[in-house]
Amino acid sequence: MQRFIEGLPKAELHLHIEGTLEPDLKFTLAARNGVSLPAGSVEEMRAAYDFDDLSSFLSVYYEGMSVLVTEDDFYDLTFAYLGKAHSQGVLYSEIFFDPQAHTSRGISFDTVIRGIRRAQEDGEAKLGIRTQLIMCFLRDMSPESAAETLTRSLDYKSWIVGVGLDSDERGNPPIKFSQVFSDAREAGYRLTMHCDVGQDDSVTHIWQCLNDIGVERIDHGVNSLEDARLVDEILNRNLTLTVCPISNSYVAGDTQASQIRQMLNLGMRVTINSDDPAYFPGYMTENFIVVQREADLSKSDLVRLSRNAFEAAWIDESERAGYVAALEAYAIA
Ligand code: HPA
Ligand code: ZN
Repeated sequence: MQRFIEGLPKAELHLHIEGTLEPDLKFTLAARNGVSLPAGSVEEMRAAYDFDDLSSFLSVYYEGMSVLVTEDDFYDLTFAYLGKAHSQGVLYSEIFFDPQAHTSRGISFDTVIRGIRRAQEDGEAKLGIRTQLIMCFLRDMSPESAAETLTRSLDYKSWIVGVGLDSDERGNPPIKFSQVFSDAREAGYRLTMHCDVGQDDSVTHIWQCLNDIGVERIDHGVNSLEDARLVDEILNRNLTLTVCPISNSYVAGDTQASQIRQMLNLGMRVTINSDDPAYFPGYMTENFIVVQREADLSKSDLVRLSRNAFEAAWIDESERAGYVAALEAYAIA
């Protein structure tokens, strides 16, 4: 099974590039930029990753970003992720980035996106891994700040496929951003949003994503299973849920493998993703392995999960057909 998972052609749809900042790169960038870090060693840094919910994770996540300063830093961060993903059979990845986490520290939008973009181009040319960018708004900042960020992004419209919403969900429901998501749709962006696991009002937030925002995907969204009508609506609209097992084990108490099994049984378009792999240790392969073990998934379940991601990817049909053909060839080999 492990070897089957390692070789499985994969697509990743829920990955925060800032969440791929591994401790060793953090030290390298800190030295390069003259930034001091609270930890003296990789081990000490890892030991400080003792979060057990979303907000305790987020404070470590944002603190780590202080080392990302120049365009080259964003390039190095992104290229390191692409190498790792490529080594695990990821053919295609949609990458979230959090511009406000950088512009709020005085780093320009241009610096961030140009560094990431250059690495995406090199990833495709040198490794053959295809990627697209999804810009996330920080939900614990104001709708006005999100709107400004949307405007700022329009210079780079052709580099960004869609918009999402992340950060601290508590007290920050989807409807807070109705206007900016409507404007983003008008501008031609695809729409997704985080509904993290086990939040206050999770089910209400997922309903808002459907009825008030009109998303195509929900990032996490596991609590939808608590409401049979909501499950029906997600099935009717064929919405995708991007689930992140190892992330769940840190911030939601367990991997939610049985819920993933349940979603597969219901025919929901569930996918497996790594979220913030430098903080929730495990990239795509490790995430597949843990769910396979815990939910006793068959090879055909694993192929279904991978096919779901290729089906949900924001790409044209000819590109999709190529990935699905590669997956099918692997499945019957
Ligand atoms: N949820 C909310 N905010 C985040 C996440 C997440 O999974 N990862 C990075 N920022
Ligand atoms: Zn996420």
